[in-house]
Amino acid sequence: MKVLRFHGKNIINGANSLEYLKQVSYKKAMIITGGKSMFRSGVIDKIKTYMEKPGCELKIHSGISKNPTKDQVMVALEEAREFKPETFIAVGGGSPLDAAKAVLLFYEFPELNFDNVFDKSLPTERTRTNFIAIPSTSGTASEVTHVSVITYPEKNLKLAIKTECLRPDLAIIDGNITMSLPAHIAAQTGMDALTHALESYINTNGDDFTDALAKEAIEGILEWLPVSCEQATLESRQKVHAFQCMAGMSFSNAGLGMVHGVSHAFGGLYNLAHGLGNAVILPYSMDYNKKDAAVAAKYKNLSKAVGSDIIEKVRELGRRIGIPACIKDAGVAEKDFQADFATLTENSMLGSTAVNPIKVSMDDMKKFVHCVYYGEKVDF
Ligand SMILES: [Fe+2]
Repeated sequence: MKVLRFHGKNIINGANSLEYLKQVSYKKAMIITGGKSMFRSGVIDKIKTYMEKPGCELKIHSGISKNPTKDQVMVALEEAREFKPETFIAVGGGSPLDAAKAVLLFYEFPELNFDNVFDKSLPTERTRTNFIAIPSTSGTASEVTHVSVITYPEKNLKLAIKTECLRPDLAIIDGNITMSLPAHIAAQTGMDALTHALESYINTNGDDFTDALAKEAIEGILEWLPVSCEQATLESRQKVHAFQCMAGMSFSNAGLGMVHGVSHAFGGLYNLAHGLGNAVILPYSMDYNKKDAAVAAKYKNLSKAVGSDIIEKVRELGRRIGIPACIKDAGVAEKDFQADFATLTENSMLGSTAVNPIKVSMDDMKKFVHCVYYGEKVDF
């Protein structure tokens, strides 16, 4: 078990690091989690065993779904306001972690809500709450980032709230918790992490620190993700869990790119899992971005490090771990895609697309969205 510090936050890394919870002091803690998986795998029971002590109260709020909605956040917020915890513990995939961040923000700063959160300059520091994040999937790295992605069903859109005070105070990176992940979820979430690392690595906002984290994460995920999906050894699960966290440290400083912009557009409309959308879109974006000289140079570095063309390597990994070749094959119906094309392309221009190393024109975006849906080559 190692303690790393990044932005003054603690990261506990290693198999069985969940036991660190025994050392956490609190009075009232609210656990925010998803559906049943954390109960079934015994993680919630372990947390209770490690944390329950006389004079302290634990409350569990479950039911945060894949692509958490603002309504789910409001229900949890209501419960928090009644229970009045000073400690929040988010347990599960990126969704409960992201939902917990929004709950925490509105709980600590009651003047904020979904109607004004994008208009105000947000507070950067929490003083009344302690926030622990325990990821059960190896992908979003929400446990070390300052980002919360929430779905707005009425707008068919996913939007990110970003402020430093969303970054958890303690992240527990325990590969044991990921052992029950089915192979296809390990694959999709792992590809999300690879996308974070690759987008961060070519973002013009990156520097030597973020590059080092991103490059290590790229190489590590390419090596260990197939093992994690095919053999699910504890070593491979712990490795991917750590590398996805590094990718998060990198992208939460450097930024992402167009894969996330386009993926959020599809995710918002069709409830397409975030990791799956990214996994499909990633190699297309690399073909698009390689025409930028600085990006091409970085891809050359990566190709040298991994021993073959990095874009082919990413495609090959996707094929090996069962990622569909295009969005159509991922299950989005063609009639829906055609009917929604205008909304999809407009929404794809939002979010991280704005910080893509190549500024994407609307014309290019139309062609790009067409290519990722039908599986056609990006050569423009
Ligand atoms: Fe992501």
